[in-house]
Amino acid sequence: MSAVICGTGSYAPAYQMNNDEIAKLVETNDAWIRERTGIRQRHIAKTETTTYMAAQAAGRALENAGISPEEIELIIVATLSSDVILPCTACEVQREIGAKRAACFDMNAACSGFTLAYNMADAFFEAGQYQTALIVAAEKLSGLTDWTDRNTCILFGDGAGAAVLKKGKGRHYFSVTHSDGEKGWALTCKNRLAVTGKEPLSREYFIDMNGQEIFKFAVRKVPELIREILRENNVEQEEITWFVVHQANCRILESVAKHLGEPSWKFPMNLQHYGNTSSASIPILLDEMNRQGKLKKGDRILIAGFGAGLTWSGNILDWEM
Ligand code: UT7
Repeated sequence: MSAVICGTGSYAPAYQMNNDEIAKLVETNDAWIRERTGIRQRHIAKTETTTYMAAQAAGRALENAGISPEEIELIIVATLSSDVILPCTACEVQREIGAKRAACFDMNAACSGFTLAYNMADAFFEAGQYQTALIVAAEKLSGLTDWTDRNTCILFGDGAGAAVLKKGKGRHYFSVTHSDGEKGWALTCKNRLAVTGKEPLSREYFIDMNGQEIFKFAVRKVPELIREILRENNVEQEEITWFVVHQANCRILESVAKHLGEPSWKFPMNLQHYGNTSSASIPILLDEMNRQGKLKKGDRILIAGFGAGLTWSGNILDWEM
């Protein structure tokens, strides 16, 4: 009775910024960024807002699912970069797409956001409260980025991904989530003011990251997380078709695959085109794979997110489209 995805959608801003353009802003170069992160370019929102990107991705997911907005009972938006504090982005998306019946709220679990939104919708299904949900992850990280800090500005991108979920008839999988607030200092953002950039902001309001600490955390905890999800669900590692993991850095994905003894192709990657879009990275990748016809009915997908908090979370889903 796990949630099943019956439609996906995504949106990336029109403006694409390559590494050479970043090299005009900070002391870096294309070769370093590609070698250390795998990123070649990212989409940056010049005019698009978080709500706009979220609504676009949501609309495309509804169309892909072939259902009307009125059928949606729940909208969860995962974001750390909402345009405003109130109203929440989920209510804005509701208005934009006309999902009049839906209960709506936002959640912030940073880069684990989509995974946690999925787990939460699944828990609502299990509780018998809803049968149809729309989960969206949307980020405008460019508004929270210090464009003079080469530690972070090379990494992040903007975008949104969405999935329509229905209560399925198949097997139920148990999710796994962990948090470590003691390590919260490793990735912070003190901005409560203006993702839109209208306020004069001092540097301390932007995303601040100890890259090496987060890197070490990810390469240690993500394999542990994947093994725990498999154990909790009595699923063998070889039964997983795809490991769809948060797109933070190609070296993290390669290291996780190596730790688990898996070929790197089982860890699909699109961060070369998008950079790290935080919560949006997993649904953007799922949408891309779906539209490219890479996902086949019966594929078993393990999703895993990790990031600020610190948080790490995952689940298994059977692809039924
Ligand atoms: O979304 C979830 C949260 N985020 C992440 O998962 C990010 C995790 N961390 C990372 O991806 C990596 O730590 C970074 C990409 C941020 C940095 O890569 P790194 O391999 O950890 O670089 P480093 O900080 O260890 O720096 C290595 C060298 C240093 O030079 P020396 O001391 O070896 O001479 C840095 O000064 O590279 C230098 N460096 C750079 N050079 C050119 C650091 N940043 C840059 C840069 N361009 N942008």
